[in-house]
Amino acid sequence: MNQKHTDRYAVIGNPVAHSKSPLIHSEFARQTEQDIIYTAEQVEPGQVAEFIKKFQSENGKGLNVTVPFKEDAFKLASHLSNRARRAGAVNTLLLNDPEHYYGDTTDGIGLCNDLIQNHNITLKDKTILILGAGGAVRGVLELLLNNKPAQLVIANRTVEKAVQLASDFSDLGNITASSFENLAGQKFDLIINGTSASLSGDLPPLPDNLLNKHATIYDMMYGAKPTVFMEWGQQQGAEQCFDGLGMLVEQAAESFFIWRKIRPVTADVITKVRSILTP
Ligand code: ATR
Repeated sequence: MNQKHTDRYAVIGNPVAHSKSPLIHSEFARQTEQDIIYTAEQVEPGQVAEFIKKFQSENGKGLNVTVPFKEDAFKLASHLSNRARRAGAVNTLLLNDPEHYYGDTTDGIGLCNDLIQNHNITLKDKTILILGAGGAVRGVLELLLNNKPAQLVIANRTVEKAVQLASDFSDLGNITASSFENLAGQKFDLIINGTSASLSGDLPPLPDNLLNKHATIYDMMYGAKPTVFMEWGQQQGAEQCFDGLGMLVEQAAESFFIWRKIRPVTADVITKVRSILTP
């Protein structure tokens, strides 16, 4: 392999050392026989534009972008996919052209592919509750609504943020906002946790009895152990409880497809990443 001419890809973030993306993309590359190098690069705040120029000069062809640079990437992209424009954030940059960067966001498709293809869940005509109203939730609403649920409710601690999101996406389907306490008495087929509460082991203050029969619980966070939200779902009688590891691998697969125009198979990669998670 002549490394000088090998296409390079990377994830940029700060911090970024913990990222699973290098492992995931090298597995995809091996499986699809693509000769690429993928690394994790820590970038300092304010240095993203400079980093991209240098990366391109070293054969950099694409980037994944994680916290805290998703808005920077959005601003730097000269062309945006419609879904990235709606999300207001970019997690994938295609850098084939030295002047024009193409920005996309693959989180929504990652979530929906994990739910629908990996877990066999139907979204059409279902009642869905999503918790949180930050960037993580904004990034997945369009794709969820594209699947035509009967109802999508956004509940958030700061209810005004949920109201704003519901209004921003109201042209795409039946989407409404709620506080946590006002959810009492409603029933859902699927509850997705898109808050960052799981990071600190917290649980949003949810009323009991929100689950329909055969309901599914999905936490966009993941870990070696079930999250507190998944434990809550089990206590509440959910039929299935999933974490977001599959979403992580699926959003990566969509990025890989944008860059290499070839779609990797994800199942073995999900198993592999799961096997190296440490408590
Ligand atoms: P991200 O990019 O991960 O979405 P964010 O934009 O900071 O991060 O949003 C975090 C989300 O988690 C918000 O919806 C936040 O609620 P507020 O808008 O009321 O701040 C939610 N969140 C964080 N910690 C929470 C907790 N302990 N309980 C409930 N919601 C929480």
